[in-house]
Amino acid sequence: MTHSLTARPEVLRLRSSKIREVANAGMGRKDVVAFWFGEPDEVTPEFIRRAAIEALEDGDTFYTQNLGVPALRETIATYVSGLHRPTTVDEIAVTNSGMSALMLVTQALVGPGDRTVIVTPLWPNLVEIPKILGAEAVTVPLSFSREGWHLDLDRLLDALTPSTRVLYLNAPNNPTGWTIDATSQRAILEHCQRHGIWILADDAYERLYFGAGDGETPPVAPSFLDIAGAGDRVVSTNTFSKSWLMTGFRLGWITAPPPLVTELAKLIEYNTSCAPGFIQRAGITAIREGEGVIARTRARFMTARDHLVRRLNALPGIDAALPSGAMYAFFRVEGMRDSLAFCKRLVAEHGLGLAPGIAFGPEGEGFVRWCFASDTARLDEGLERLERGLRFRHAA
Ligand SMILES: Cc1ncc(COP(=O)(O)O)c(C=O)c1O
Repeated sequence: MTHSLTARPEVLRLRSSKIREVANAGMGRKDVVAFWFGEPDEVTPEFIRRAAIEALEDGDTFYTQNLGVPALRETIATYVSGLHRPTTVDEIAVTNSGMSALMLVTQALVGPGDRTVIVTPLWPNLVEIPKILGAEAVTVPLSFSREGWHLDLDRLLDALTPSTRVLYLNAPNNPTGWTIDATSQRAILEHCQRHGIWILADDAYERLYFGAGDGETPPVAPSFLDIAGAGDRVVSTNTFSKSWLMTGFRLGWITAPPPLVTELAKLIEYNTSCAPGFIQRAGITAIREGEGVIARTRARFMTARDHLVRRLNALPGIDAALPSGAMYAFFRVEGMRDSLAFCKRLVAEHGLGLAPGIAFGPEGEGFVRWCFASDTARLDEGLERLERGLRFRHAA
């Protein structure tokens, strides 16, 4: 008798990343100007790298507590309290990235056959995670106009049936830049409280929010943590990757009700056991001394966003809305019906690396994502290549 040598059906059914599919076609080529991944183009600031180096030199090479070292948990609790409601250390779990935070919370809350609801288009990782656990992922699409992306609140509330286990919501959103308003958050929270539905808010881009007036300090997107207490079924995941330019450090955290955090400690033990101690030391420094980094990054991305969106809309057949957060322009290309083929041709024939809209769900077809965490000269080089590439869009 022969036995299958492959993984279980839930894993076989996972989509492989279409962003990767395009990137694989051009990686290693020196002539490609790439904006496909969601990654700032700058190296992590020196003072943060120094903190990790010093921790290593101090011999910080051992396992730490499952939930993170107390100093980092305290630093995060103080930071979250400064931005949102008062938050205590027992609400915080340190994780090895935002990605890991999302997986851990899903492992804690979602089982086979559970119904989850997800607002899309969305970063594919978040859509696939519940499916790994055998859950059903029901999508509620945002709608697009040049004025911006829009959530049909009634449609979302209708989808949040009493049998729904978790709502996944990422705002500011990757890829659209859509940010939820406080009034909609209140309606969603109230509805979910009534039906016992968990809200998992992915707050990875909360500091890369462009909606706040310049006088507001520190700028931060509306969060469920502003309106929900520690006794509510609300979990926020976060990451050091974007705000502090630390993608390669793989460090993040979860803010959750204390009883759930206790259970997360067990899951962390069986996933990664802990985040590396020297990386956690860098995290402490990033939060304590990094507000300048965030302010500078936000200002730089805002300039890049304004420049890119203005120039995109000047191109024939392109419709781009001004994103109110994150670091992406997700724009419509008139007459383009196969974004994967279109992006592959852009790489092959024009050396331009963009992410196909279809990678973010069926409602992303016809769109392309451009990460604008880059300087203006590089954006201009990319725009020139796009202009040349647009000539063949009707073929794709
Ligand atoms: C919406 C969203 N959430 C979470 C993450 C996780 O980031 P990381 O795993 O680098 O912490 C990303 C990264 O691209 C993201 O776009």
